[in-house]
Amino acid sequence: MTVDSLVIRDEWPADADDVENILQAAFADHPHSQQTEHLIVRRLREAGELVLPQVAVLDGTIVGHATFSAVQLSPQHEGWYGLGPVAVAPAFQGHRIGSALIDGGLRALKAMGAAGCVVLGEPQFYRRLGFERGLGVTFDGAPPEYFLAQAFRGTVPSAAVSYHPAFFGAD
Ligand SMILES: CC(C)(COP(=O)(O)OP(=O)(O)OC[C@H]1O[C@@H](n2cnc3c(N)ncnc32)[C@H](O)[C@@H]1OP(=O)(O)O)[C@@H](O)C(=O)NCCC(=O)NCCS
Repeated sequence: MTVDSLVIRDEWPADADDVENILQAAFADHPHSQQTEHLIVRRLREAGELVLPQVAVLDGTIVGHATFSAVQLSPQHEGWYGLGPVAVAPAFQGHRIGSALIDGGLRALKAMGAAGCVVLGEPQFYRRLGFERGLGVTFDGAPPEYFLAQAFRGTVPSAAVSYHPAFFGAD
C-alpha cells in the first residue's frame, strides 16, 4: 500500500460520522479499551471541547483521526492539552498515518501557543513523537510509565492532570 497522497487536515463538521466509524473500528479489539472512544469524541464535540481535531485523508477517504482537549493541572498551569483519542482505520495501520496525524496536530498546538501536551498510552509509540515519561505530571489511576508529557516552552511541571468530564461520560 502507498500512502504518498496522504493529507492531514483539520476536521470539518461533515467528517463527524466517518470519524466515529474509524474510532469504533480502531478500538474494537483494543485490550485496554471499553469501546467508548467514539462517544468521548462525540461528547467533546458537543461540548465544544475538541481542540485541533485532525483527520488523515487518503484518496478522498478519511482513514485516521486525532484530537486534543484542554486539561487542568493542579497546581494550576495554563496552556496544557491532552492528546487523544488517536485512531487509524485497521486496514491502514502501520503506515505512519498515526505518526503523521500526531505530528501535524502537535505542530498546530505549538503554533497556537500551547505550553505542552500529555498523553496516556504506549510509551514505545509516543516517545518517538517527543513525549517522555516520568517528568512530574501524573494522572490518577494511570501507571506512571504510560503517562507521558512534552513541554513546548519551559519545563513539564509537577502537577496532577484532570481531563474534561466528557472522557468519563458525565457532562
Ligand atoms: C495507535 C495507532 C493510532 C498508530 O497509528 P499507525 O498509523 O498504525 O502507527 P504508525 O504507523 O505511525 O506507527 C509508527 C510505529 O509505532 C509502532 N506502533 C504503533 N502503534 C503502537 C502501539 N500501540 N504500541 C507500540 N508500538 C506501536 C508501529 O509498529 C510503528 O513502528 P515501526 O516503525 O517500527 O514499524 C493505530 O495503530 C490505532 O488506531 N490503533 C488502535 C487504537 C489505539 O490504540 N489508539 C491509541 C490509543 S488512544
